[in-house]
Amino acid sequence: MSLSRLQIRRLATAARRAAKSAYAPYSHFPVGAAVLTSSGKIFAGCNIENASYGLTNCAERTAVFKAVTEGHRKLLAITVYTPTPRPTAPCGACRQVIHEFGPTAAILCVCDSSERIEATLEQLLPGAFGPTDLSSSPRAVTIKRP
Ligand code: THU
Repeated sequence: MSLSRLQIRRLATAARRAAKSAYAPYSHFPVGAAVLTSSGKIFAGCNIENASYGLTNCAERTAVFKAVTEGHRKLLAITVYTPTPRPTAPCGACRQVIHEFGPTAAILCVCDSSERIEATLEQLLPGAFGPTDLSSSPRAVTIKRP
């Protein structure tokens, strides 16, 4: 799926704005993310750290969880913004979470230079484990889509 210039600009603006809300007192590494859903809506999120470090939630997952909470389960694209000279790609855990709702999503990572990462989720997480892998289980649960 190719994004329009306008969609890219809206996603990057939303991700950049979300990074301002980052709660990153431990890493001092603010991250903003924005997802575009099949309904055309954009949901943004930031990283939210915790004194119990392992409970930190990445910006990408915050954005995905916001979209899903609002009933938007099909992700077309996700943008990640970091205030760094080089772009940052989503971590492994976030790639897995993105796969659940956007197995073919476009990934665009932007930063404070013109450097970008442009990829698809399939490129970043080849051979992913996903919902269909569970369908062969005798106790498989069918997921109802809204
Ligand atoms: N972080 C994200 O929000 N997204 C990523 O893809 C990589 C890492 C956050 C988690 C933590 O708050 C900080 O960046 C440093 O790892």
